[in-house]
Amino acid sequence: MARKKHIDVVRDEDERPIAPAEQGSERAWQAALRPRSFDEYIGQKDLVENLRISVQAAKQGGWALDHFLFAGPPGLGKTTLAHVIANELGVNLHVSSGPAIDNKAKLGSLLTGLGERDALFIDEIHRLGPIVEENLYPAMEDFRFDFFIGEGPHAKAMTMQLPRFTLLGATTRMGLLSAPLLDRFGFHWQLRYYELADMKAIVKRSAALIGVPIDEDGATEIARRARGTPRIGNRLLRRVRDFAHVEQDGSIDGSIAASSLDRLAVDHAGLDMLDRAYLSSICERFDGGPVGIESIAASLSEERGTLEEVVEPFLLQIGFIARSPRGRVATAAGFQHIGLVAPSKAPTGGNSGQGRLF
Ligand code: ADE
Repeated sequence: MARKKHIDVVRDEDERPIAPAEQGSERAWQAALRPRSFDEYIGQKDLVENLRISVQAAKQGGWALDHFLFAGPPGLGKTTLAHVIANELGVNLHVSSGPAIDNKAKLGSLLTGLGERDALFIDEIHRLGPIVEENLYPAMEDFRFDFFIGEGPHAKAMTMQLPRFTLLGATTRMGLLSAPLLDRFGFHWQLRYYELADMKAIVKRSAALIGVPIDEDGATEIARRARGTPRIGNRLLRRVRDFAHVEQDGSIDGSIAASSLDRLAVDHAGLDMLDRAYLSSICERFDGGPVGIESIAASLSEERGTLEEVVEPFLLQIGFIARSPRGRVATAAGFQHIGLVAPSKAPTGGNSGQGRLF
């Protein structure tokens, strides 16, 4: 009944051994540091507790877990949670994404490859096309896939019964999901940026896994600049490890962490060059705003989607920008951060999240 094996696109990398000499890709590295159980998972406590209950109920009751949707900026653990859930359920995880399922046949082959109670993870689910999405509805609701054999007037309508499965959807853009798709999930959750204490614990855990000694100050420095995002924390840890290896004895303390991150252009609030260019654009070029996203994107020669999905959520969270009906505005804190005096019209940008994150 319960099967432990994972079928997914990252399985090989996921099972790679890790060592300080690891030369793998960024994705392999991130996968290797991923927690595999609820007990190993740090942060998002309320979500993890809810999932624990639902997983336990599904296991005890012998039913397939309900379809769950996770929303939030990249790097907060949506994929990781899908792996943890499948692992805890003892079922296979099949991994795909909205853009990869670009026609009905691909959806059909994915669905018909599922085993009883397996989990199907669809990343960027907001990018499914309308035809694929419509065909997903009966699969989610009645575990059914409808298709035609043949073409034209002789085409024959067929229905295939699917195993009971769990759809785990992930999106960086909850607002782009259609109401009928949203309705078919039993549970939605918006993931939050991780608090400093959790980020610190994640950095320490990852350092231990890769065998790099790190002290409290080193972990704090990396955690503080990781913008509440485990994927970024693990990436920064790897970069600081390089500096510590070349310039010190390989161990990370507060001073090597700070000096490496300064040189990598990640500032004390965790902003990188694109974040600062975005802030400068609003503050200097557009006089603090309000300014529309298209104008900012054009001024930076950057994709609007990247700004909306990656840059803005964090700047909003820490109160460096605000949204108004007429566009984005830089707050007094945003002006100060890039060394400018805020005009009197700039909002103060008080944000409850800031205290928790930094
Ligand atoms: N690595 C990446 N995300 C993690 C998390 N939430 N808990 C523990 N380790 C992690």
